[in-house]
Amino acid sequence: MRGIILSGGSGTRLRPLTKITSKQLLPIYNRPMIYYPLDTLIKAGIKEILIIVAPERAGDYLNLLGSGKEFGVKFTYEIQDKPEGLAQAFIIGENFIDNENVTMILGDNIFEDNFSEEIKNFKSGAKIFAKHVPDPERFGVVSFDDSHKALKIVEKPQEYLSNYAVTGLYVYDSRVIEIVKNMKPSPRGELEITDVNNIYLEKGELEVAMVNGEWLDAGTFDSLLRAQNFAKEKLDGKMIV
Ligand code: DAU
Repeated sequence: MRGIILSGGSGTRLRPLTKITSKQLLPIYNRPMIYYPLDTLIKAGIKEILIIVAPERAGDYLNLLGSGKEFGVKFTYEIQDKPEGLAQAFIIGENFIDNENVTMILGDNIFEDNFSEEIKNFKSGAKIFAKHVPDPERFGVVSFDDSHKALKIVEKPQEYLSNYAVTGLYVYDSRVIEIVKNMKPSPRGELEITDVNNIYLEKGELEVAMVNGEWLDAGTFDSLLRAQNFAKEKLDGKMIV
C-alpha cells in the first residue's frame, strides 16, 4: 500500500493566514496541520508516502518533513502546478503508485479514528469513509438505500441528499490511474474525486465504511479553531508523530 497526502491548493479561504505559508502547515495546537493526516497514514503501516504540494510552498515542506527518516517512512515529493482537482493526484503520482494499491488523505483532514485494519484489509476496488454531519452541503455527500447500499455520491449537493459526508480519506487499487486519465474536468475545471468514486460505484466496486470518531476538515476559520481544541483535548496523547 502506498500513501499520498494531497497538500496543494492556494488556501484562499484562510487568507491572510495563508499569504506566507501553506494552509496545511498552519499550527493545529502543537503540530503543523499535515502531521495529523501523516499520523493517520503511519498508523496504518504505510511506509512510502508521496506528498503533493503547490510550487510556491515546496521548500517549506522539505524543510519541515525532510526525507521521512525521522518518522520511519520514506517521503517522495511532487509539485501540482495548479489546483486542478483532487483526482489529479493519481496522474501526478502515477510512477509513485506503480501497480500498488494507494491510500490518499487530504492534508487538511483530521481524524480521531485509527483506520489501520480498514486499510490493511483492502484488496481491490475502492473504499471511502463517510461521516454523519449537520452540514452535508459543504462536502461530497453519499446516499444509501434501505439496505445501506450506497446509491450515489454528489459533490456539494444543492438539494438535500443525506447527512453522510464523504471524508478526505480514499483507498483505491492502481486502476484509479487509468480511470482518472479517462475523465474530463468538471464545469469548475477540476478532476473530481467524486467522479472517481461514482465510477467505482457503478462497477459495484465501491465500499463505504463509516467514520466513528471525530473528523474535521480544517479548511475554514471556524473548523480551524475547532480543530485546535480537538487536537489538544482528544489527539495529543495519541499521536505518534
Ligand atoms: O474534506 C472532504 C471534502 O474534500 C470532500 O467531502 C469533497 O468531496 C472533496 O471534493 C473535498 O472538498 P473541499 O471543498 O474540501 O475541496 P477543496 O477544493 O477545499 O480541497 C481539499 C484540499 O485539497 C485542500 O486542502 C486543498 C487541496 N487541494 C485541492 C485541490 C482542488 C489540492 O492539493 N489540489 C487541488 O487541486
